[in-house]
Amino acid sequence: MTKTRLAENFRNRFHREPEHYFFCPGRVNLIGEHIDYNGGEVMPCAISRGTWLAIAKNVDKKLRFECGNFSETADFHLQSSYSRAGKEWFNYPLGSINQLLHEGHLISGLDMFYFGDLPIGAGLSSSASIEVLTMFAASELFGMNIPKIEIARLGKKVENEFIGVNSGIMDQFAVAMGKKDKAILLNCDTLAYEYIPFDTGNFVLAIINSNKPRTLADSKYNERFAQCGQVLKLLKQEVDAVHLCDIDNATFEQHLHLLNDPVLEKRARHVVTENERVKKARHALLNGQLATFGRLMYDSHASLQNLYEVSGPELDTIVDFCKSYHACIGARMTGAGFGGCAIAMVEEASFEDFAKELTLDYKKRIGYEPELFASVIDDGVREL
Ligand code: GLA
Repeated sequence: MTKTRLAENFRNRFHREPEHYFFCPGRVNLIGEHIDYNGGEVMPCAISRGTWLAIAKNVDKKLRFECGNFSETADFHLQSSYSRAGKEWFNYPLGSINQLLHEGHLISGLDMFYFGDLPIGAGLSSSASIEVLTMFAASELFGMNIPKIEIARLGKKVENEFIGVNSGIMDQFAVAMGKKDKAILLNCDTLAYEYIPFDTGNFVLAIINSNKPRTLADSKYNERFAQCGQVLKLLKQEVDAVHLCDIDNATFEQHLHLLNDPVLEKRARHVVTENERVKKARHALLNGQLATFGRLMYDSHASLQNLYEVSGPELDTIVDFCKSYHACIGARMTGAGFGGCAIAMVEEASFEDFAKELTLDYKKRIGYEPELFASVIDDGVREL
């Protein structure tokens, strides 16, 4: 989306000129899934698709939300606080403004036009993108100077308290702090982070949207969150830990008797082993061992499929195809799961053939087509 197109849309809706333009990307998580809310390390990166915003202050003390992707619009009087109004898209930016007000920041009226090219609700963090975008734009416009890490932290609060999903900080952090061609190794407990060169050589990172609607995803997500809390409480009877990810594999295996529940055991085994895979993935990337990194992606998927049980036939079909395809060295579901997207490392020269073959195979087995694109790893939120 160009500034010219954004300005045109803004003019059509508000009959005036926008003052500023901002962009915030979406993200994929390379490895470390369902780890952030367990206090471990994750490895996401920002992508080139995302959400745009054209914005101008108004003098009518109104917050006006318009969007090129949805027909619903919203027009709120400026208040000191807001609560969620249904399920419409504008709850995400509204929650973000609400959070800034709660932090004591002063905001005047705003006209806002949004447009996104992320598939909505497909696990590429369209919600974190719009939250971080809104807070960053407001921070710039009103001179709040909120550091990007703090914006990520506030974005998580919006998701947890305004939207009602117990998600961790990974998505907001990735879209706020992303860096071109770098993976972010983020410690979700301390928020210490490291940029790791994501040098893919003659491979590309493919993003494959299963196009499976993520129904019930939020409630299943919250269920996994609660199960991890239960596990931690049980293990804490004998183990000294603040987060589930403080517990290594050996300690976990020694204290299995405390769980005494096959489902909780599976959930916890995923978390403990996935956390160790992230460390191995870091080592592999830093040493240019792309094949090892790819194998860790497959292992991660198997764990999410069999132990954490957040995959599904659609994502499994994609990953199974990847395993059988000669020019693919690794693949896994990415994000919360229950539908959404998978990622794969595919030889660049074979990408078109890969896309064609996968589409045929997927359509035959699932009944409809996936959407595929080769992704660029890009920078985080910014003014245009
Ligand atoms: C969603 C959440 C994140 C994270 C992932 C799973 O994207 O928003 O916080 O928990 O799922 O890794």
